[in-house]
Amino acid sequence: METVVSGIRPTGNLHLGNYFGAVKSFVKMQDEYNCLFFIADWHSLTTRPKPEDIVESTRIILAEYLACGIDHEKATIYMQSDVKETLELYLYFNMNTYLGELERVTTFKEKARKQPDNVNAGLLTYPTLMAADILQHRAVKVPVGKDQEQNMEMARHCARRFNNMYGVEFFPEPQSYYFSDKALKVPGLDGSGKMGKSEGNCIYLRDDAKTITKKVMKAVTDGGPTAQNSEKPEVIQNLFTFLSMVSEKETYDYFDEKWNDCSIRYGDLKKQIAQDIIKYTDPIRERIVEYSANIDLMDKIAKEGAEKAHESAAKTLKEVRQIMGFRELY
Ligand code: ADP
Ligand code: TRP
Repeated sequence: METVVSGIRPTGNLHLGNYFGAVKSFVKMQDEYNCLFFIADWHSLTTRPKPEDIVESTRIILAEYLACGIDHEKATIYMQSDVKETLELYLYFNMNTYLGELERVTTFKEKARKQPDNVNAGLLTYPTLMAADILQHRAVKVPVGKDQEQNMEMARHCARRFNNMYGVEFFPEPQSYYFSDKALKVPGLDGSGKMGKSEGNCIYLRDDAKTITKKVMKAVTDGGPTAQNSEKPEVIQNLFTFLSMVSEKETYDYFDEKWNDCSIRYGDLKKQIAQDIIKYTDPIRERIVEYSANIDLMDKIAKEGAEKAHESAAKTLKEVRQIMGFRELY
């Protein structure tokens, strides 16, 4: 069975961008693939979280993974920091990756601009750690949002370079996986391109009805359509993207028709979106509360996941060491 790997950094609660861009695919894939989903706590060190924040935030994401429907009996769920083999592979990949390549990664350039007083080596080598996360399990598919494409390209580079260097066909070149045929970018409702934690424009899975309504009603719109059947400007298209994610097709078609004949009322559209988001996320929110309270269960799941992930990575690293000429570990 083909292997699938993905992870999310524990830097806050999951939002609709994370859900529709990544987690929804996790849930779908767990029935068809050998899946390993982890919590990228090492990656979150690039912004220097406090120890107590790490404990808290990793638990939050684990509860949210489970609440979204990731089933620990089907998929392996683990903490990145529980599997030390990752670090060994990270070191090997770092030796084969050039400074210029890493400096060209857009997310590095962006992060370096955002935190100029903390441009650390971990930030620079973020893609090689991500490559190690994926390739330690020899995964072929990686469900992620569109913004991860460049990191995925680096992961394929690491695989290819290793194979070429040692004349082997050992690592597969992992491909991004999108829930539907093309990558989905969940927009921000503030008129900015993307919903994201650093954009401060997120609707979180754990937001209650009142908060969701408030956020949606504030969404940026325009003066309304001026000609029939005109193209939707970006801010309006964004609202329709939400409809396509959480509403029934008839609802989408209804508002699309209203747009086309210029009778659309944005207030009604927003109310509908808020209502449908609430309906969609309500059961998830309830389960988040339940799982968050069950710390014993979450610790048990993380422990079992760590064992399985360790076993999978150790098998790969054993072969990597052989290929590279290192002795087997005692
Ligand atoms: P954020 O951008 O809020 O910091 P992360 O970088 O932690 O979120 O992203 C975790 C996962 O969610 C990644 O796979 C990423 O591609 C996906 N993701 C995040 N925001 C969006 C979005 N607005 N649309 C689609 N996918 C997204
Ligand atoms: N870079 C991803 C993000 O920002 C998180 C991540 C780390 C990841 N390692 C990974 C995703 C391996 C997929 C596979 O969201």
